[in-house]
Amino acid sequence: MSNKIRAKITGLGRYVPPRVVTNDEIAKMVDTNNEWIVERSGIHQRHWVEKGTPTSELAVKAIEQLLEQRGISATEIELIIVSTVTPDMMFPSTACIIQNRIGATNAWGFDISAACSSFLYSLTTGAQFIETGKHKKVLVVGADVMTTIINPEDRATIVLFGDGAGAVLLEPTGEGEEGLGILDFRHEIDGSGGEHLYMAAGGSLHPASHETVANKMHFAHQNGQQVFKFAVRKMGELSAAMLDRHQLTGDDLSCFIAHQANLRIIDATANKIGLAPEKVIKNIHKYGNTTAATIPLAIGDAIEEGKLKKGDLVLFAAVGAGFTSGSVLARWAY
Ligand SMILES: CC(C)(COP(=O)(O)OP(=O)(O)OC[C@H]1O[C@@H](n2cnc3c(N)ncnc32)[C@H](O)[C@@H]1OP(=O)(O)O)[C@@H](O)C(=O)NCCC(=O)NCCS
Repeated sequence: MSNKIRAKITGLGRYVPPRVVTNDEIAKMVDTNNEWIVERSGIHQRHWVEKGTPTSELAVKAIEQLLEQRGISATEIELIIVSTVTPDMMFPSTACIIQNRIGATNAWGFDISAACSSFLYSLTTGAQFIETGKHKKVLVVGADVMTTIINPEDRATIVLFGDGAGAVLLEPTGEGEEGLGILDFRHEIDGSGGEHLYMAAGGSLHPASHETVANKMHFAHQNGQQVFKFAVRKMGELSAAMLDRHQLTGDDLSCFIAHQANLRIIDATANKIGLAPEKVIKNIHKYGNTTAATIPLAIGDAIEEGKLKKGDLVLFAAVGAGFTSGSVLARWAY
């Protein structure tokens, strides 16, 4: 291994709103039932915010937990990268709102829009600033209030999504830590998949109007089957390619942390890379798909389950609207 400086994750904070919404409750809103949701997606419940709660509020709660755990002050943070498809508003960026709320007076920052892949895109982006030596403390946040963009009358999407936030801190590896931290990434986009998952209105193409509201164009629209097929293929491909590039197999991994969109997508990928079931981190049953927050929430579960300890090898993978996709390989450092 080279002595190159790498970015290591040194802290984690998570937050989900207290309100739990079960499948049975959703079955009172739309024509669906618990069995269908569990069988097709693996979701049993999700957390939803009380109306009027913005993404920044969830993110700040996760960041506060992280800062306390790591024992640092917000003024030490140099860069804030926020992954979200539900920013508080079109501008300023949610990174600016968060910076002000937490008092990160020495930070700059920005938002990254890559839907369900955005946490991994942000992790990779943040790692570059650490590896170049430009920054020593980069905050990477994944937060979404999906309930603000889901049509409560659309059974195809209302059952799938939840609200949540997670944040990690990136710092440089030091002496004696060679081989730890974020080792590699691989990302792709395929814009031809844009027609299968999108929110059409609110941007410059379809600015808000009476017509866009009447046509429910401010809600996410998804062609579930197309997204499903792409996700199974691409997540498997990228995960396998990452292992191949490092001459690794599923046996070398301590755990696999995938974006939590559908249990069947996660299981198909785990199967493709030959992973023992206990190495696959799953929390979709309790949170649903929280978009940018799924991976940091799952990191917390992996730590709690004892599957992510110092020196452990972990593979992350995600696919999202765009289509966006990625895999990240890391050796856990704390
Ligand atoms: C959405 C998803 C769970 C649907 O599962 P599926 O097995 O593909 O189901 P289909 O869409 O083929 O629908 C099967 C049937 O169930 C019905 N159905 C759809 N939603 C339903 C619901 N909530 N409750 C009950 N029935 C439902 C459909 O109308 C269809 O009925 P039909 O056969 O009479 O036409 C699945 O496609 C999926 O997870 N896609 C990927 C989602 C994703 O990853 N999104 C985030 C991007 S990262």
